[in-house]
Amino acid sequence: MAILEYIDEKLSTKRWQISHNRLVKAISGCHHRFMVGYHQKISLFSEADTQRLAKRIGQLLMPGDVILLRGEIGSGKSFFVRALIQSLQDMPEDVPSPTFTLIQTYITKIGEIWHADLYRLTAPCEIDELGLLDAFETAITLVEWPEILSLVAPSSSLYLDFKVHQDGLIRDLSLSSKSSNWSNRLGQQNDI
Ligand SMILES: Nc1ncnc2c1ncn2[C@@H]1O[C@H](COP(=O)(O)OP(=O)(O)OP(=O)(O)O)[C@@H](O)[C@H]1O
Ligand SMILES: [Mg+2]
Repeated sequence: MAILEYIDEKLSTKRWQISHNRLVKAISGCHHRFMVGYHQKISLFSEADTQRLAKRIGQLLMPGDVILLRGEIGSGKSFFVRALIQSLQDMPEDVPSPTFTLIQTYITKIGEIWHADLYRLTAPCEIDELGLLDAFETAITLVEWPEILSLVAPSSSLYLDFKVHQDGLIRDLSLSSKSSNWSNRLGQQNDI
């Protein structure tokens, strides 16, 4: 008897069906148990949507939080950070892109915020020289072009991945983290 016919015949008996069902249940149970971290996708249909989400996330932040923003040039990383910082200031100040200064710092109602853009950083040793490793612990840090951080990116970081939709105003945003802590804090942001 060919092996496939043998398996077919076995699966058609009640005993095997029961154990097959148990196996499926056990596998999906494991899947849920090991599904850790946080992941969500949101469509931002306008600049106002981006500003609303930035404000909402800003209110939940505390010193020691790190947000890493990824996405192509012009996808909205600086726009998001600007909205977030200004929403936390009584007298909103200018928030220029730190493309050339690499780091800009701001005093806000919830503490010091560091805004970094590592696009022009060439040597990983400069990360520590810029004071970023200390800032990860003591300030709220938002980093554009964070890829160079590689292994020194804190595992609790929240990643924001911006994608420009065909229509110029729409951004598909993915929020993710290895830490499920963000899941408790941010929940599902469905009603932007
Ligand atoms: N829904 C939206 N969310 C954010 N920005 C938007 C949106 N729609 C249009 N924009 C525009 O897209 C541009 C985003 O520019 P921004 O400087 O934020 O990009 P960036 O990702 O920081 O680029 P870079 O990699 O050069 O730093 C802004 O001009 C902003 O006005
Ligand atoms: Mg930028």
